[in-house]
Amino acid sequence: LIAPPPPPNLISLSDCSFCRIGMERLGIGIIGTGCIGIEHLRNLLLLPSARIVAAADPYQPSRQSAVQCAASSDMLLLDDYQELLKLDEVDAVIICTPNDHHAEVLEHVMRSGKHCLVEKPLAIHVQDCSKAVAEERKLSQRALFWCAMEYRYIPTIARLIAEADRGTIGTLRTLTIRENRFPFLRKVDNWNRTNARSGGTLVEKCCHFFDLMRRILKSEPRRVFASGGQNVNHLTETDGSASASDILDNAYVIIEFESGARSMLELCMFAEASKHQEEVCLIGTHGKLEAFAPSHGLKRDDATIINFRRGIRNAAFVHGEWDRTEPPPPEDCGELTEEHIPIDPQLLEAGNHAGATFEELQRFTTAALGGGEAEVSLTDGAMAVLMGIAAQRSITSGLPISWADMMEEYHAGMI
Ligand SMILES: NC(=O)c1ccc[n+]([C@@H]2O[C@H](COP(=O)([O-])OP(=O)(O)OC[C@H]3O[C@@H](n4cnc5c(N)ncnc54)[C@H](O)[C@@H]3O)[C@@H](O)[C@H]2O)c1
Repeated sequence: LIAPPPPPNLISLSDCSFCRIGMERLGIGIIGTGCIGIEHLRNLLLLPSARIVAAADPYQPSRQSAVQCAASSDMLLLDDYQELLKLDEVDAVIICTPNDHHAEVLEHVMRSGKHCLVEKPLAIHVQDCSKAVAEERKLSQRALFWCAMEYRYIPTIARLIAEADRGTIGTLRTLTIRENRFPFLRKVDNWNRTNARSGGTLVEKCCHFFDLMRRILKSEPRRVFASGGQNVNHLTETDGSASASDILDNAYVIIEFESGARSMLELCMFAEASKHQEEVCLIGTHGKLEAFAPSHGLKRDDATIINFRRGIRNAAFVHGEWDRTEPPPPEDCGELTEEHIPIDPQLLEAGNHAGATFEELQRFTTAALGGGEAEVSLTDGAMAVLMGIAAQRSITSGLPISWADMMEEYHAGMI
């Protein structure tokens, strides 16, 4: 322990606007203070509805990062997360440990009765996803379990979701997500270099995009086809014990949905020389929406960059028969609007997700304090992992993967 015990949860009325209206703050414990744990910490320090009570990490440099980041707070630092779970002042925990550790921590958090935000991916095996969802259903004590999916809250992507929900572009038919980015960063113990520890690239990072597909299209997958490989990155690396990296660095994944919509992910992880890190293109019967997300490294918003585009088709083309013999001139094609959706500079500075982490934490704390529902349930988290596993199986086998088969395996694990 390197700090005195924290004061009780209710803070003085003058501390912040949230508390001036007499509301309680959610006492939070962070498990794992590596890259994303620190991003949560920095954003929680900006959030009036939260108070950081404790953080746990067995790795001293990660604990040191937490100390540097939260020097002004009275946070308790521990090396064993089991000790953190015993603290009454901790109302909710955020699990930020490596992917292969989530299932174990989640099991212990469920026994503790605390609320939980678990970082994606929920787990890395089908059976662990089934188990987590089944165990949550059995809980007698009502606690909030939310799987972290920051991409839903990136401002441009949030706008695209809101417009799609409002029906701006009609019935949704195709959704393409392109991620062109830098290779995987170095992590503690290099857990992200192998399929065994990370679940594989399409589980580890692309579960974000599979979650977006289900959320935006509001439908379940039917079939998954994929092709991918490790052709450029980490080819000569070892993890110190001579075992080579085996993770994908590029892939195409096509998913057919029950609704009849189709979606495609294009992933390339040696493409940081790009204007946008993610490009989301959604097309419906009445038009097209495009949302662009900045590189994770961006720390200053540029208002001259177009990051959102809406094209609404000419109504005559939507409702009439298409019998033209010449391409339509641009002025006949419909109404195209482009804009820059701003990102709060303070939030841009506080993390790598364009303010999305703050937004997600705000919603999580509000739901936990007010007895609300998770916007991203453990089932949502599980489905995103299963889509990634299906895509990886398709790459290995060269065959399409039936979602019914994935579901059979998933439900079998719940018994
Ligand atoms: N939602 C997002 O956008 C996003 C972004 C980055 C990472 N993540 C996820 O967050 C998790 C962590 O990723 P990271 O990039 O921070 O990795 P990291 O390696 O930087 O940090 C992981 C930390 O967990 C600690 N840890 C390991 N075992 C522990 C234990 N038993 N108890 C407490 N701490 C323990 C490690 O010491 C390390 O400090 C991963 O699951 C990753 O997929 C999510």
